[in-house]
Order: sequence, then C-alpha cells, then structure tokens
Amino acid sequence: MSAGAPIGVLFVCLGNICRSPTAAGVFAARVAAAGLGPRFRIDSAGTGDWHLGKPPDPRTRRAARARGYDLETLRARRVEPADFHRFDYILAMDGANLRDLERLRPANFPGRLDLFLRAAGSPAEPEVPDPYGGDAGHFEQVLDLIERGAEHLLATLRARHGI
Ligand code: 4NP
Repeated sequence: MSAGAPIGVLFVCLGNICRSPTAAGVFAARVAAAGLGPRFRIDSAGTGDWHLGKPPDPRTRRAARARGYDLETLRARRVEPADFHRFDYILAMDGANLRDLERLRPANFPGRLDLFLRAAGSPAEPEVPDPYGGDAGHFEQVLDLIERGAEHLLATLRARHGI
C-alpha cells in the first residue's frame, strides 16, 4: 500500500448477498460517520457465483434497513484474482470462505487475508454464520456480529494506520 492511497478492505462470503454486503455497508457507514470516507475503499464479493448481479437478499436488505443501512445499490460479484492487487485487507466471514480465498491468494500478496471478526479482534467467536437457510433471527444475529465487528475493525485499522 502506498502512502496516501486509500486502505482497501474487501469483505467476502459465499453468495455475496447476505453477510459480506452487510459488512461492507455497515463498515462504510462507520467510516463515513468518522469522517474517513476518502481514506478507505470498501467492497464485497462472494466465493460462489450463483447470485451474480443480484442485489442483496430481501431478508438482508430488510434487516439492514431497519437499522438505517441502505444496501439497495449493491450487486453481487465473485471474488477474482485481481482483488489481491486491489485490496489491503481481504476479510472472510467464515472458515470455508477463508479456505477458498487461501487457494486464490498469490504467494506475494502483501496484505492481510483473515477472518473478519478475528481481524477485528474477536478471536473467541471469529465466524459470522451463514444465515441463508435460517430465519429472521439469524439475520439479526448477523447484523449484531457485523456491527460489533465493524466498530472494532475501524478502531484497529485507525490505530494501525495512524488515522
Ligand atoms: P452469504 O449467504 O454467503 O452470506 O451471501 C448465502 C447466500 C446464498 C447461498 C449461501 C449463502 N446459496 O447457497 O445460494
């Protein structure tokens, strides 16, 4: 990462319609509230390709909207090798996502590939569970974990990058 360049943060899940768009939207809201919008480049992607071009799941959008996050304009895309050149932090929602990303990671990737919640400092409970087959409560749990994680991640990155 060159000095002054925005810090690139990519959130990754399986479908890119539930967890990672939520994480990108919530983290972007925290960053904007801190007045740090220009210091970050934030995106999300999925390891799977079933939902390419689709907006986030209606249950995800509804739960996010109820807490003031607008995920309407996001569209699903698949993670690609070039992401390892564009992002400094590639943060997986669960262990399966992380293993898939480790297979794509170039040997010379200089950034950090990790679980989102572990990078955010929650090593005891490091996964955001897949809510796709679940009920509304699972989507609320996803938002709870992501809101807490986004707060901690921003504090961690501010300290590490001195901003
Ligand atoms: P996400 O949730 O990985 O949080 O976006 C899922 C969305 C879709 C599927 C699985 C998980 N699916 O199997 O289609």
